[in-house]
Amino acid sequence: MTQDDAKRLVARRSVEFVEDGMIVGLGTGTTATLFIRELAARNLKIRCVASSEASHTLAVSLGMNVATLAELPELDIYIDGADEIARIPGAGLGLIKGGGGALLREKIVVSAAKRFIVVADSTKLVEHLGKFPLPVEVIKMALPVVEPKLAALGLNPKLRLAKSGDGAFITDEGNYIVDCSCGRIDDPQRTAAEIRAIIGVVEHGLFLGMAKLALVAGEDGVSEYLP
Ligand code: A5P
Repeated sequence: MTQDDAKRLVARRSVEFVEDGMIVGLGTGTTATLFIRELAARNLKIRCVASSEASHTLAVSLGMNVATLAELPELDIYIDGADEIARIPGAGLGLIKGGGGALLREKIVVSAAKRFIVVADSTKLVEHLGKFPLPVEVIKMALPVVEPKLAALGLNPKLRLAKSGDGAFITDEGNYIVDCSCGRIDDPQRTAAEIRAIIGVVEHGLFLGMAKLALVAGEDGVSEYLP
């Protein structure tokens, strides 16, 4: 089974958690895109809130009913992918998110949802978080102040560049992303708190204890992981 097959499989399973009448949060990324397409195909009577301009545009193009948090500030469910998933002692499921640069809006939409289900192929499941560079969203003018502080924490920060090669990557909220190649994160709660304490950091890609279920697809089909 290819990674794309696994993503398709888990996307198909995840839509089974969505019912008529629900307000659904739409994630961002390749797995979330497959989920959005599957969801649109089911023609359920649902309303949605997207976690990025890209997912919003996709959902609208598929004829889905998409609103903003101003209109729908409480969601029944949020479904999204992750760059890494691990069980964190004392903190439930821990994720690294933000590979696609949408971590801030993703975390905001998660915080508005009663339930967050993370969906992924089995390559995302890890023993310890940190092999995937941890994205940190930073206010533009604060970059010269924030970057050395992230470096002093041993996080090896690097400003993310736009794929177009045209300068820095800019998030939907107009900020920079700094990718931290920190290696194994032994104490994710501590790392999260240290990063959060730096003035100029808007948010980081550690999602700790937020997902209540992980659906992970591999050769044996879709497995469920609880905190
Ligand atoms: C977007 O900012 C990310 O948080 C994605 O949800 C995450 O990177 C997973 O993306 P893929 O499904 O494309 O691997």
